[in-house]
Amino acid sequence: MNQRGDGFVGVFDSGVGGISVLRALVDELPHEDFRFFGDSANAPYGEKTEAQVLELSRDITERLLAAGAKAIVIACNTATSVAAKTLRAAHPDVPIVGIEPALKPAARALPHGTVLVMATEVTLRLEKYRELVRAWGGECEVIPVPCPGLAARIERGDLDGADLAAMLEGYVGAYAGKVDGVVLGCTHYPFVRRRIAEILGADVRFFDGGAGTARQLRVRLTDAGLLAGRDRPGRVEFASSLDTPEELALYERFFSLSC
Ligand code: DGL
Repeated sequence: MNQRGDGFVGVFDSGVGGISVLRALVDELPHEDFRFFGDSANAPYGEKTEAQVLELSRDITERLLAAGAKAIVIACNTATSVAAKTLRAAHPDVPIVGIEPALKPAARALPHGTVLVMATEVTLRLEKYRELVRAWGGECEVIPVPCPGLAARIERGDLDGADLAAMLEGYVGAYAGKVDGVVLGCTHYPFVRRRIAEILGADVRFFDGGAGTARQLRVRLTDAGLLAGRDRPGRVEFASSLDTPEELALYERFFSLSC
C-alpha cells in the first residue's frame, strides 16, 4: 500500500555543488530516497541573468515534481535567492526548502568577528543578501567576496591544480591573517574549503548552510506528514543535464568526497 511518505525528495543545483548539501540531507534523513539533478550543462548559474536562473529552476522543479517528488530542496544559494519565492507560490502544497549563506550561525559563533561571505555575483547583488546581513550580521564586520569563475572551475572536477590555488589566492589572499570566519555561500565551495583554509590560516572558522537546510527539510517533511516510514536506508540517485557516464561518475566521486 502506498503511504504519503513514500515518494522521493528532489534536490537540484547548477551542478556538483549541491552534492555537498545532499550529503547533509542523507546524514540527517538516512531513510529518505533522494534524486539529485545537477544542471551542469547550464552551469554556472551565478553568472547568468536572474530571468535565466528563474526559468532553469522552474523547469527543473516541474520535471522533478512530474516524476513524483514529494518535496524539493534547492541546493543552490543562487537559485534560492532568485527563484524560491516564485516556486513556493506556484506549488503551495509542496515543501520547497532552499539554502542561504550561513551568516546567522557565523555571527552567533563570532559575535564581533570579521567574516567573509564567499558567494556568486548573483547571490551577493540581490536584496535578499542585504536583508540577511541586516537581520543576522549583528556586530560582525561582514565582507562580501564574489567569486566569478570559481563554481565553473570546481565543475571541472580536479580540485588540486595550481590554477585553482591561484584563483583562490586572488579572491581571499588579501584577507590572510585578518579574518575570523568564512561563510561558504555557494554550495560548490565546501569542496575547496581546505584549499581556502591553507590561504587564510588554520584558525579561521568555516560555515555553510548544508546542515541547516537538512534540519529544515526534516521539519517541513514532519509537518506535512511526509517523512519516510520505511526501515531500509534510503536510495540516492543522480541525474545531470550533461547526461554522460563521465559526468555521473564525477557526481558519485563528489558524493564520496563529501563524507
Ligand atoms: N552552487 C550554486 C550556489 O550555491 C551556484 C554556483 C553557480 O552555478 O554559479 O550558488
